[in-house]
Amino acid sequence: MNDTSKFPHLTHATGAPVSDNVNIQTAGPRGPALLQDVWLIEKLAHFDREVIPERRMHAKGAGAHGTFTVTHDVTRYTKARIFSEIGKKTPMFARFSTVAGERGAADAERDIRGFALKFYTEEGNWDVVGNNTPVFFFRDPLRFPDLNHAIKRDPRTGMRSADSNWDFWSLLPEALHQVTIVMSERGLPRTFRHMHGYGSHTYSFINAANERTWVKFHFRTQQGVQNMTDAEAETLVGKDRETHQRDLYDSIERGDFPRWTLFVQVMTDAQAKAFPFNPFDLTKIWPQGDFPLIEVGYFELNRNPDNFFAETEQSAFSPANIVPGISYSPDKMLQARLFSYADAQRYRLGVNFNHIPVNAPKCPFHSYHRDGAMRTDGNLGGTPSYFPNSKGVWTDQPQLNEPPLEISGAAAHWDHRVDDDYYQQPGDLFRKMNPAQRQALFDNTARAMGDARDEVKQRHIDNCTKADPAYGAGVAAAVARLAAEARR
Ligand code: HEM
Repeated sequence: MNDTSKFPHLTHATGAPVSDNVNIQTAGPRGPALLQDVWLIEKLAHFDREVIPERRMHAKGAGAHGTFTVTHDVTRYTKARIFSEIGKKTPMFARFSTVAGERGAADAERDIRGFALKFYTEEGNWDVVGNNTPVFFFRDPLRFPDLNHAIKRDPRTGMRSADSNWDFWSLLPEALHQVTIVMSERGLPRTFRHMHGYGSHTYSFINAANERTWVKFHFRTQQGVQNMTDAEAETLVGKDRETHQRDLYDSIERGDFPRWTLFVQVMTDAQAKAFPFNPFDLTKIWPQGDFPLIEVGYFELNRNPDNFFAETEQSAFSPANIVPGISYSPDKMLQARLFSYADAQRYRLGVNFNHIPVNAPKCPFHSYHRDGAMRTDGNLGGTPSYFPNSKGVWTDQPQLNEPPLEISGAAAHWDHRVDDDYYQQPGDLFRKMNPAQRQALFDNTARAMGDARDEVKQRHIDNCTKADPAYGAGVAAAVARLAAEARR
């Protein structure tokens, strides 16, 4: 790469000097442009291609580099080398985001926040692509594109639609847990630094004896949780659309490095089998009373990217990125995500996206994938491009195979809604709230439902009532009050 401070002169992308970057070439001082002014053409053509597709979800975000440090021994659960000894440090990159807004959206909006982490371990990259909520709207990945369509822009008007959004959510009673969190105080964090993060899905840990334990990841902010009200956000957005991004950037620039403590909840397979509900259901939490938080370590964000596009925009996280000792679970949503992320990134960034420095592992890697658009390294020179070969390369490591997972049952489109309880956990969450928190939940919900049809609002109120009659009544009263105010 050029060191521009040592070589200030402008050149073409091919290195040849540019003689005039002020006046285009024309036929006479007032004449039209000449096609042979290739600098003009190169400059415009590059500019015309500067925009790449934004992420389909989580388009607006901010990233930072940091370090993960182990403070407690969890080697009885996992052989992942990132956790191999107390004091061990691993470099990482984090990106926080909102979900629904486009790349230019305001930060201070009521929405879930993405919480994506990439740990550059000595055994490859481990990504946790989570949110600031421990659950999700549903448990069947067929609904994910519909969620996107319902919360993003209406196909006819090109505008966001409260009616579509709430029509969709209220028709999925399993969404009530997540909707309750998003409409509560926690749905509008004050900054990215003041929120917890969750891996959300159940994953698995595998230890040196090749034993599997189910695990959930919790990242608890050491800055304390802070939220803001809709009214505060409204004022902020009028002044600054980049509040969360700016807060993260500024705090790191001034040396005030944010930290999150990593805890895990673990569940044995025997406990999973005896669990009263499906432990791989993303709409439910594991109660901390039964599965206490176990401390593991902390991460600190301490370096801003040198270039937003190169690092933050081009970063590519995927739940498929695991390392020995950490693995997946039968969660249906997780299973679909294992496909979707790299697929999206091959489209968004190109097939060689893992070579982009922010995505490249920091340990040696030899996938032997070849060619493809924008291959900018040596493309493995003359190393064998096939297996089996007699050259001693491309060796796999069967000792790293996971213990077999017992699965049973006939293949079918099983209806996961049969005999399920959608209301207990959102009801419990509601009952834990103090009166002020409940009122905030009612008012935020009523405002967010906005101009949705009355029948849609009523459907949501009915769902809330099933979780707790006081929840339904509170939302109904807030909706009625807003309607009365609007008539005045
Ligand atoms: C981003 C798909 C569920 C968290 C994305 C992207 C896709 C996607 C395609 C854009 C990736 C890119 O262009 O780099 C899906 C599908 C889901 C799902 C198909 C369900 C079937 C979830 C869940 C969570 C989540 C349950 C959290 C627990 C995120 C985050 C990002 C993201 C944090 C942004 C990552 C970044 O900062 O680059 N999702 N998603 N998603 N998703 Fe999901």
